[in-house]
Amino acid sequence: MIDFNRPFLTGKETEYIVEAVQTKKISGNGIFTKRCQSFFEQRYGFKKCLLTTSCTDALEMAAILCDVKPGDEVIIPSYTFVSTALAFVRQGAKIVFADSMPNHPNIDADKIEDLITDRTKVIVPVHYAGVACDMDAIMEIANKHSIWVVEDAAQAVDSYYKGKPLGSIGHLSAFSFHETKNIIAGEGGMLAINDERFIHRAEIIWEKGTNRAEFFRGEVNKYGWVDTGSSFLPSEVIAAFLWAQIENLDDIQRKRKEIWQLYYDNLVSLPAIKGIGLPIIPNYATNNAHMFYIVCNNIEERSALIAHLKENNIQAAFHYLSLHNSEYYKDKHDGRVLPDCDRFADCLVRLPMFYELKPEEVVAITELIREFYKNI
Ligand SMILES: Cc1ncc(COP(=O)(O)O)c(C=O)c1O
Repeated sequence: MIDFNRPFLTGKETEYIVEAVQTKKISGNGIFTKRCQSFFEQRYGFKKCLLTTSCTDALEMAAILCDVKPGDEVIIPSYTFVSTALAFVRQGAKIVFADSMPNHPNIDADKIEDLITDRTKVIVPVHYAGVACDMDAIMEIANKHSIWVVEDAAQAVDSYYKGKPLGSIGHLSAFSFHETKNIIAGEGGMLAINDERFIHRAEIIWEKGTNRAEFFRGEVNKYGWVDTGSSFLPSEVIAAFLWAQIENLDDIQRKRKEIWQLYYDNLVSLPAIKGIGLPIIPNYATNNAHMFYIVCNNIEERSALIAHLKENNIQAAFHYLSLHNSEYYKDKHDGRVLPDCDRFADCLVRLPMFYELKPEEVVAITELIREFYKNI
């Protein structure tokens, strides 16, 4: 069986976890947390990073920091994970869903301006498959209308837009280290802060509404309840695991890109013959090889392809269901039809992608796909 995902362990995770435990400071914001945060700040130029227990938590922090209140509107793509919307819905926001681009699941920047009203507070671009949204266009609209931009960079570690690291462009951004991502911590995430005005309050929200971080730095002589917040910071055990992954980031990225390219090279002749879509990397974006997907012609074809791969012991997976049609939100959605989003929801299929996937396995998978398309 070739799994869809297999978490990759670098071998140092347990050693660092033992080290973290032996320091006898196992709760959050210790040595490993600081090491991970500094790494991201230095490598990508984020002004301040805070590890969180998930990307969902980082998005929730962002929603609090943007002071999203009942009645405020937040523009997000409908083709995304529930958390992108949920974090803002919890603050009482109305979600205004935007469509995808015709040739890529990312939010269509050309369609955003029409959605803006005087209640719009935040735009949340999601860098699908680690490939950048058109951030210049999005930032221009946001600046023109004084709207915050929170990048959902859950899948976008070590990826770039016109040379700028993803997560460094919006006012705030959220990353995921869930075990399905390029670098992992089981469950884990990070808030990256690019607008300095948010840093002070973010630390407080992170530490259950207290100024404990300032106290531990010796900046105040007691700490107490000063704001809203929650327990967003992970323990040192999580940070120690993540550090082992971070140390191997370059190797992980190199390997994943090789796998991605092999998929691409073996499938590139199919679209012209069978009308399927392969991933597109716009000129302004890099590829961090988070995911390899193909876009089938219709849902029946996709179901048959997934079944064909399953019969041959290969796990492939479709992805998001349009959030504007979801059970929870469809009655609150304003009724606009979002055809590109619906097409990706119906037709996109993700192929196995993980560090230890062997070249011969990639070849076998692509052969099966070619065989499938020969017969239809
Ligand atoms: C685009 C996007 N945003 C947010 C999340 C939530 O991440 P986490 O599981 O770390 O909370 C995911 C999860 O895969 C995601 O794909």
